[in-house]
Amino acid sequence: MAEAIMTKLEDGVRHIQLNRPEKKNALTSNMYTAMAEALNESNDKQEIKVNLLYGTQYGTQGCFTAGNDIHDFLTITQTGKSDESALLFLKSLATLKAPLILAIDGPAIGIGTTMIFHADLVYATEQAIFQTPFLDLGLLPEAASSYLMPEAIGHHRAFELLCLGETYSAQKAIGAGFVNQLFPAETLIEEATAIAVRLAQKPAKALRTAKSLMRSAHKDLIQNTMERENELFKTQLNSAEAKNAFLAFLNK
Ligand code: COA
Repeated sequence: MAEAIMTKLEDGVRHIQLNRPEKKNALTSNMYTAMAEALNESNDKQEIKVNLLYGTQYGTQGCFTAGNDIHDFLTITQTGKSDESALLFLKSLATLKAPLILAIDGPAIGIGTTMIFHADLVYATEQAIFQTPFLDLGLLPEAASSYLMPEAIGHHRAFELLCLGETYSAQKAIGAGFVNQLFPAETLIEEATAIAVRLAQKPAKALRTAKSLMRSAHKDLIQNTMERENELFKTQLNSAEAKNAFLAFLNK
C-alpha cells in the first residue's frame, strides 16, 4: 500500500505530499506523525533548505486535505482516549526553522486552512477552496488560528471563516491576502517547486534567520494560544454536539 505521506529531498527542497486521495487526504494520527517528523527533521538538517507541502490529483479534481479524519474524532469522543499527534504536528509548524511553502489545489478544510497561517508562501489554483467548519462540528478553532487568523486577515474575515464557517474561493483568499498567487492545476506543483528551489538557493543561514526574525515577536503567543485552544478543543471534542455532528457527517 502506498504511504499516506510521501517525502523526497531534491535540490534542497523537502517535498511532503499527502497521499490518501480516496479519503480526500483526511488526516490520521499516522499522517500527522509523519508530517511532524519530516518538518522537525528539516530543523536539524541544514541540507533541507525549504519545505514544500501539497496534496494529490484525483482524476481531474485535485485535493489538498479534507482536514482531520472525522472517524478519528469520533473514536476519541467514544473512547475518551487522547491523541496528541495533531498537536505535535501543529507544534512542528510553530517551531519550524526552514521556510514552509504550501501548494493547494481543491479543498483545504479545517487544519488545511489553519496551517496556511504558519506557512511562508502559499500558492493555489482557481479550484482551491478554504473552509474551517469547526463550529458546525461542535469544535473550536485550532493551530493558534484564533490569534493568527485575525492578525493576518482582520477580525471580521477571520470570524466569517472560523465562526460562520464560510467557504472562501481562491479569488477571495487572494483578496484576503493569505494566498500569494494562483497557477493552473496542471502546473501548480512545478511552479511551486521552482519557487522553492529559488528560495533554497538563498544564503542558507540568512534565510533561516530572516524567517525566525519575522516570527520571533509572536512565538510565545502562538505556542500559548495553541496550548489553550487545545485544552478547550479537547473538552468540545467530548461533547454531545460534536459527537452528533461527526455521526451526521459519517452517516451522510
Ligand atoms: N474524515 C473522514 N473521511 C472523510 C473526510 C474527513 N474529514 N472528508 C472526506 N472523507 C471521506 C468521505 O467520507 C468519503 O468516503 P467514502 O467514499 O468511504 O464515502 C470520501 O472521503 C470522499 O469524500 P466526499 O465527501 O464524497 O468527497 P467530495 O468531493 O464530495 O467532498 C469535501 C470533499 C472535503 C468537501 C467533503 O468530503 C467534506 O466536507 N469533508 C469533511 C470536511 C471536514 O469537516 N473536516 C473536518 C475539519 S475540522
